[in-house]
Amino acid sequence: MRSTTLRILAGRLAVPCLVCAAVHAQSIRYTEGRKIWLLTTRESSYAMGVGPDGALRNLYWGGPLWRVEDLPAAAPRRDISSFDPRQMLENEEFPGWGGPRYYEPAVKIAREDGDRDLVLRYASHRIQGDGLDITLKDVNDPIEVTLHYRVYPDYGIVARSATVRNGTTRAFTVNSAQSAAWYLPPGDGYRLTYLSGRWAAETQINREPIHEGQKVLESRKGHTSHNFNPWFSIDAGNAGEEHGRVWFGALAWSGNWRITVEQTPYRQVRVTGGMNSFDFAYRLKPGESLDTPQFFAGFSAAGFGGASRTLHRFTREKILPGGLSSRLRPVLYNSWEATTFNVNEAGQKALAEKASKLGVELFVVDDGWFGKRNNDRAGLGDWFVNPQKFPQGLKPLIDAVNQLNMDFGLWVEPEMINADSDLYRAHPDWVINFTSRPRSELRNQMILNMARSDVKEYIFGLLDKLATEYNIRYFKWDMNRSFSEPGWPEADAADEQKLWVQYVRNLYEIIDRLRARHPKLEIESCSGGGGRVDLGILQRVDEVWASDNTEAFDRLRIQEGFSQVYPAKVMSAWVTDVPNMNTRSTPLAYRFLVAMQGALGIGANLNRWSDSDSALATKMIALYKRIRSTVQLGDLHRLLSPRESDVTANQYISADGKQSVVFAFRHSQEYNTAAPTLYLQGLEEKALYKVEATDNKLVERQPQLSGAYLMRAGLNVNLRGDFDSTAVILERVQ
Ligand code: DGJ
Repeated sequence: MRSTTLRILAGRLAVPCLVCAAVHAQSIRYTEGRKIWLLTTRESSYAMGVGPDGALRNLYWGGPLWRVEDLPAAAPRRDISSFDPRQMLENEEFPGWGGPRYYEPAVKIAREDGDRDLVLRYASHRIQGDGLDITLKDVNDPIEVTLHYRVYPDYGIVARSATVRNGTTRAFTVNSAQSAAWYLPPGDGYRLTYLSGRWAAETQINREPIHEGQKVLESRKGHTSHNFNPWFSIDAGNAGEEHGRVWFGALAWSGNWRITVEQTPYRQVRVTGGMNSFDFAYRLKPGESLDTPQFFAGFSAAGFGGASRTLHRFTREKILPGGLSSRLRPVLYNSWEATTFNVNEAGQKALAEKASKLGVELFVVDDGWFGKRNNDRAGLGDWFVNPQKFPQGLKPLIDAVNQLNMDFGLWVEPEMINADSDLYRAHPDWVINFTSRPRSELRNQMILNMARSDVKEYIFGLLDKLATEYNIRYFKWDMNRSFSEPGWPEADAADEQKLWVQYVRNLYEIIDRLRARHPKLEIESCSGGGGRVDLGILQRVDEVWASDNTEAFDRLRIQEGFSQVYPAKVMSAWVTDVPNMNTRSTPLAYRFLVAMQGALGIGANLNRWSDSDSALATKMIALYKRIRSTVQLGDLHRLLSPRESDVTANQYISADGKQSVVFAFRHSQEYNTAAPTLYLQGLEEKALYKVEATDNKLVERQPQLSGAYLMRAGLNVNLRGDFDSTAVILERVQ
């Protein structure tokens, strides 16, 4: 118990949680008499039970409980009318599509004889440590669905997924396979927060009331997509950044996904999520099964900020490969915006020398190094080093980079193929296509059908060869188009649509195998920016490219949305040249401070930088190295939002509470108005903090301030004009 309490405090729960400490030793409690399970984490509880009719019903989701006896029985309800059957009133934990059920089902099947009804009843369960499996069975057939629960008591997270199993003697097709249905307490006034966007404008925050009907967040594009991110957050209608009840969840799937938020006419608010049922048909022969992705969810009583911090810590420590032991993200340089396809040995060496003088630790060569890749019309698929650009292969460049004390990284886009490539001339059948239909090209490229085993092996082989032959520490794995004509002509017609699932599984398998064979290899997931950002890919990569839009002011909003779900550590963020993207020009210091809130990178053309630019960059990179563990591993408090104020401010606090960094940005000052006071968060009231201004813009001149003063009287920053910025570092005085 003692160590449990310490762990909780180490997680910096504001109030020591006696309830969680009491139940902590046992994250899953079960009462056989009442057939009720209570799952508890430091921030939440989740409960379900079996009714006398055998139906598994959700009983509770919210703040932590400790007493199973308090929970109501999972009793069936009564029909309201012949149009409002009891099935529609009950919070069925994982409803099959069957009987009089008209809401979004968690699983839907079609038998060969045309019968499609599936009514699930409790069959058995098994508890092992923090894991619980509950098996449900159809009322007639040996069709089983096992619900998998995994509780992360120290992290405030419960994970759910499901396995559908065919125990019959005939095949059937699964038409919808969700990971979970989540129920909110009955009520009105809920608000949904979600992230939408498009290429170069990802992760924009939307917040809207939930009304009767469905709101669908989804991807039909084969990858996670820029348009919606697989995450939801629902608040009780009055939450803010630091207060209020927030329920949230994030799906770990990088293919077609769907989250349906639904309010029924009966005051039920339910969220069903998993694989997208659009164009979904997954045939299961006798004995076969289908696993759905993990859906991670939690509850926070500390507002949207609390929910984000819970997800951030969980992602850093339980999702990312290596977890706590993975290294801090190095400062990287990437040549893309500087050179586009015009890469060559001399040019890259010159950039590498300049980058290393600034303090860069990882030098990444982007697109253009292979095949006949002089523009985006050719070369994808031909993963041999271009002999004109690198006459002696990549080794001389990599050696030079390593001698400059930097790791070497390389851009790849292994899933793609240009029609103008040797690979396409040899294997036109390898692309995703419908036999008798035209093949759409986007950015002049098609998609290799990675669901095929031979294509999977080819892609694994080419990456393995590169990582074996060269001292490559890092792949930037890009994916620059969405799916179209998703055909798999070589598969049985009844199995063709499995492509949606098998493609993603094989993507995961390739990365897992690569990492196993090359344990030091790191990977960045990029899909034309943030088109493949989700907890599934993050279980296998070290960082993600949040957006191709590197314009610093736009980035503030993209990063604000990104930070709702994902931690700063995984958010690759570059300083690039101006004017860029929307022709806006911001000062170099502003661009640095924006990018320093993630995993800092430089994507500028260093050949064009003046001596004073380089001097400022050297200073900023050194500053970043001083604070990066606070930014990458600390707690984020979003103090002021770029959506709501002309000042944006974010505060990071290190895991041990000793350092805190405040970043502030002013968009455009009007009427000579002072910037609003920044009320800091999460500090120790009684502690003293050494206050260090990184420039002359901090109004307060006292060398030390108490936590109470910083949180209640706040800090004032003198930000003037357009695109002004500053950072303040606080060090707790022992
Ligand atoms: C899209 C990526 O997002 C960019 O950073 C760059 O790598 C290009 N692809 C290269 O083609």
